[in-house]
Amino acid sequence: MQHETIEKKLNLMIVLIALTVSVAGLVQILPLIFQNQVKVPAEGVVPYPPLQLAGRDVYVREGCYNCHSQMVRPLLSEQKRYGPYSTAGESVYDRPFQWGSKRTGPDLARVGGRYSNDWHRVHLDNPRNLVPESNMPGYPWLDKAQIDPELIQKKMRRLQTLGDPYTDEEIANAPNAVMNKTELDALVAYLQDLGTARTGRKRSN
Ligand code: HEC
Repeated sequence: MQHETIEKKLNLMIVLIALTVSVAGLVQILPLIFQNQVKVPAEGVVPYPPLQLAGRDVYVREGCYNCHSQMVRPLLSEQKRYGPYSTAGESVYDRPFQWGSKRTGPDLARVGGRYSNDWHRVHLDNPRNLVPESNMPGYPWLDKAQIDPELIQKKMRRLQTLGDPYTDEEIANAPNAVMNKTELDALVAYLQDLGTARTGRKRSN
């Protein structure tokens, strides 16, 4: 069929475009449903403990992903700067994953253990106290808001129904783990956890 014929018949063109997009979409999406590589957790990757899970929610709520990606690309320059490149198996417990693509700030996929907890607390309160030229906003309210223990327990129960391997005991103990913790405690715990399964780095205190 001549290209010109297709371009002159709008209905035909719409049908052919829809067909091309659907087939191309399926070719990309279908393998993901069956590939173990994207469903099986990478070595050492476990569902988020209660405090880290709460911190992840703060991260998403505050929109940190608007400036920070969490995906080290398989390029030499990236690996030299951030550490080993990210794999799909690291994100199986992330709903939704936080890979992102916007990098106003550095990638955070491997930030766990790079700084002390105190560094993060000061930095999140007002980044310019540590990095004078930083344009990252401060989040001083996080230190004043408490984590809701019951809510975290409910979330873990929900994640368990979705297939995350939390034990009933872990869920029963969850409220204790976040009792009297602030959103800042939770966010710092989450940041200190990022990428540690892959780099073998330990969380610092
Ligand atoms: C407007 C963009 C912007 C937003 C929003 C933002 N950041 Fe940043 N962030 C930056 C920039 C720029 C830097 C580098 C300068 C600095 O360290 O402050 C940075 C640095 C960091 C670092 C240090 C990374 C490293 O490897 O040195 C951490 C950790 C961090 N941000 C966490 C967060 C968290 C958590 C949030 C959400 C609560 C957040 N950021 C929101 C821009 C942003």
